[in-house]
Amino acid sequence: MASETAAKVIPGSGPGLRIPVHLGVIMDGNGRWAKARGKMRTEGHVQGVNALRTLVQSCITHGVGYVTVFSFSSENWTRPPEEVSFIFNLLRRFVASDLQRLIRNNVKVRIIGSRQGLEPSLIRLIDDAEAKTAGNTGLVLCVAFNYGGRAEIADAMRTLAHEVAAGRLDPMSICEATITRSLYSADIPDPDLIIRTSGEQRLSNFLLWQSAYSEFVFVPENWPDFDEESFLRVLETYSLRDRRFGGLGSSGT
Ligand code: FPP
Repeated sequence: MASETAAKVIPGSGPGLRIPVHLGVIMDGNGRWAKARGKMRTEGHVQGVNALRTLVQSCITHGVGYVTVFSFSSENWTRPPEEVSFIFNLLRRFVASDLQRLIRNNVKVRIIGSRQGLEPSLIRLIDDAEAKTAGNTGLVLCVAFNYGGRAEIADAMRTLAHEVAAGRLDPMSICEATITRSLYSADIPDPDLIIRTSGEQRLSNFLLWQSAYSEFVFVPENWPDFDEESFLRVLETYSLRDRRFGGLGSSGT
């Protein structure tokens, strides 16, 4: 549904700081962060994981319900194989090193994206992280890994086509809700706010269907530099937006 599910106010943080129920983050600029410091690109990704930890903590502190981070896109396969395998290993290491802490913090982990092309051991690790945190009721940390918005929609179409072919679904009954429930993110509300770091201003195939009414905030800092202060600055910007969802909005004009 295209509507903001709830609005919260951070105590002592100024009047009406609005907290998104679902925050999407395109963590961009790891490579540029590293290059600017004369380091290997992979060092940028390592620092990117630290920034991800900070983000998760900020989301918990301020009561964000869901945070979806874009950590490997279907298009990232075109990068040099060493970098691809480094990012895959980062996911393994992140799960290995952080899962217990995420469990202690009542975080529910979801990994959305295609399982195709992933090694069976990585799929087991992902499934295990999801299973071990399935009962948690706090922040939902949704990692978009091997994810592409168009591929997600194509997969959903394939699922629906199978249902039609099997006689379980009447094509005339297909509506927006039918498609939404066939996406990887079926049980996750649409993102209220999407942040992209590093000054780039594109969606790059992230949550295409779900972002129809999202607010976008683009910030200049590279992902490894995105900290609690950046997070609060973005929320201030977001709080000033008048979300209209195609209607007239709060001013009625
Ligand atoms: C974008 O920076 C970042 C990525 C493609 C990888 C993102 C990965 C992390 C932040 C680590 C967290 C990941 C996991 C698996 C938990 P870029 O490489 O596109 O930077 P550039 O545009 O400056 O080259």
